[in-house]
Amino acid sequence: MSHQSELIAEDIEQYLREHENKDLLRFITCGSVDDGKSTLIGRLLHDSKMIYEDQLAAITQASKTSGTTGEEVDLALLVDGLQSEREQGITIDVAYRFFSTDKRKFIIADTPGHEQYTRNMATGASTASLAVILIDARYGVQTQTRRHSFICDLLGIQHLVVAINKMDLVEFAEARYEEIVAEYQLIAGKLNARDIQFVPMSALKGDNVVNPSELMDWYQGPAMLELLENVEISHDQNLRDLRLPVQYVNRPNLDFRGYCGTLAAGVMMPGKGVKALPSGKTSVVDRIVTFDGDLDAAYPGQAISVTLRDEIDVSRGDWLVAADDDVMLASNFEADIVWMHEAPLEPGRLYDLKLATRDLAGKIAAIDYQVDVNTLEQRHADKLDLNAIARCQVELTAPVPVDDYRTNPGTGSFIVIDRLSNITVGAGMIHRPLDSELPYEYRDNDSKANVVWNRTSVTQQMREQLNGHGGKCVWFTGLSGSGKSTLANALEVELNRRGYHTMLLDGDNIRHGLCKDLGMGEAERGENIRRVGEVSRLFAEAGVIVITAFISPFRADREAVRGLFKDGCFVEVFVDTPLDVCEGRDPKGLYQKAREGKIRDFTGINSPYEVPVEAEVKVNTDVLSQHDIIAKLLKQL
Ligand code: ADX
Repeated sequence: MSHQSELIAEDIEQYLREHENKDLLRFITCGSVDDGKSTLIGRLLHDSKMIYEDQLAAITQASKTSGTTGEEVDLALLVDGLQSEREQGITIDVAYRFFSTDKRKFIIADTPGHEQYTRNMATGASTASLAVILIDARYGVQTQTRRHSFICDLLGIQHLVVAINKMDLVEFAEARYEEIVAEYQLIAGKLNARDIQFVPMSALKGDNVVNPSELMDWYQGPAMLELLENVEISHDQNLRDLRLPVQYVNRPNLDFRGYCGTLAAGVMMPGKGVKALPSGKTSVVDRIVTFDGDLDAAYPGQAISVTLRDEIDVSRGDWLVAADDDVMLASNFEADIVWMHEAPLEPGRLYDLKLATRDLAGKIAAIDYQVDVNTLEQRHADKLDLNAIARCQVELTAPVPVDDYRTNPGTGSFIVIDRLSNITVGAGMIHRPLDSELPYEYRDNDSKANVVWNRTSVTQQMREQLNGHGGKCVWFTGLSGSGKSTLANALEVELNRRGYHTMLLDGDNIRHGLCKDLGMGEAERGENIRRVGEVSRLFAEAGVIVITAFISPFRADREAVRGLFKDGCFVEVFVDTPLDVCEGRDPKGLYQKAREGKIRDFTGINSPYEVPVEAEVKVNTDVLSQHDIIAKLLKQL
């Protein structure tokens, strides 16, 4: 290789050592062959002397047959390596190319610029720290310039170099350059990237690529390579939030348990207090083990194994974060999704999602809007086609820790996988959680302070998924003889016929077992309803539709039960049959006994019934037929 470093001849060992310790800049080039992208990359490789002698000989030869540059060597041929590309005259692949200078090593993600390659560009941009946006000086800011800038920005690239190329075709005119800079500033205002630099250049002639231009002495800034060599990227790393997504648990023998993974953010050190998510269990880092021995500190990007002082349960997919970091768990979040497959994204369909190292099922519950990548306009979409980009609502089957992609790209991104073909069909960047909860260990415990909550691996959502529907509680309340039991029974029959999993808890029956120790005083009724409420919640967590028929005369008792359920999962049905009608029916002869003074605390006679004020449904068996009431209830459910 003709890469020139005096050290190679003088002290090869020293050269190799320095080379190994040089830092690495990954960048993406955005533009098309027409903008001179391949020529630019070829020029970078050529002028930084990263070309083998035989390669140079080969392209010098090829320039004569397929080159477009007349007598000069066509440097684009260096990178347009694929035969089909050469024939079509466009770049169709995503290629990663490597070169280095004395200061830095570089990896270029070279992706095609056309709209039909949006997914390739997003892939290339996802690992890049910097983007070179190429503009043809003759045409200025184009639709594709806007698209390229938007995609890079979406993928969180912090540094942009706007390369205004082909200055030789506009007579190296400063005025034209300034005009394009001003045009681009209009886009820049809408981007998150704060570091945006402009370079006038001619990749073909070699002006301001590696060597400063003599023909544009009005430009005082650095040439492209100098910019690439000096751009400060160490500050881009998030060293504040500690994130180790666990890739696998290494357990070679009983004495060693290492949690292995690539540190996504933060600084990991022995003695650091850490918390496992989603369990919330805490411990302290004992050792950081690597292939080359133990570390005193590990930084983002390093592959490490961490051992902890306590045996806490951590599995693949879990995160280790700082013990005092209140990372919330969420099962619903908002994200930007780039669709990467011919088969469109279908909202509501179950996909496999991979968030950091965790695999779990989920769906895109809704598409908020699709972004037109050319105009950046937001528009309605029912599905997403290949290369579409949209803001979506994602629903997971279990709550997991989620991060904002902008602050934590490593843990704030995910991929969407088709469950049948196992192909990656989309990529997403998390924007914000839509629901959130603290890990269980930190929740106020309403039972004894020393009783912990043991989190189960199978969640309510997973049970519901298997069941085919969610759990709920339909709570009938009303006077004795109002028709609660009859209606509850009829409703269960209808739900059962329709294939729903149900359970009916009836007041009289429960008083034969679970609540046989309770009487009819106000406090004992309260306890009766509390127990039934808890049992109902358990059934609902199992994914069952629970139907209850209890007088439940006290409002506070009913409201306490409501509080056990998520919004929408508790349906209070007030069976509003007037007292005289109930008394007239008197199916069990209890009203008569109560009137005769033979029963104490009888609801409606010598104990109050507090009418519901916010029941979801109110029915009167005296006015509506049972058939109509059940139809009304089914509609409500
Ligand atoms: S609740 O007030 O605690 O909800 P629950 O629905 O369990 O009452 O009462 C079940 C049944 O007990 C009633 O349907 C009725 O047949 C019978 N019963 C016996 N004594 C009483 C009473 N004092 N008041 C009301 N119902 C009673």
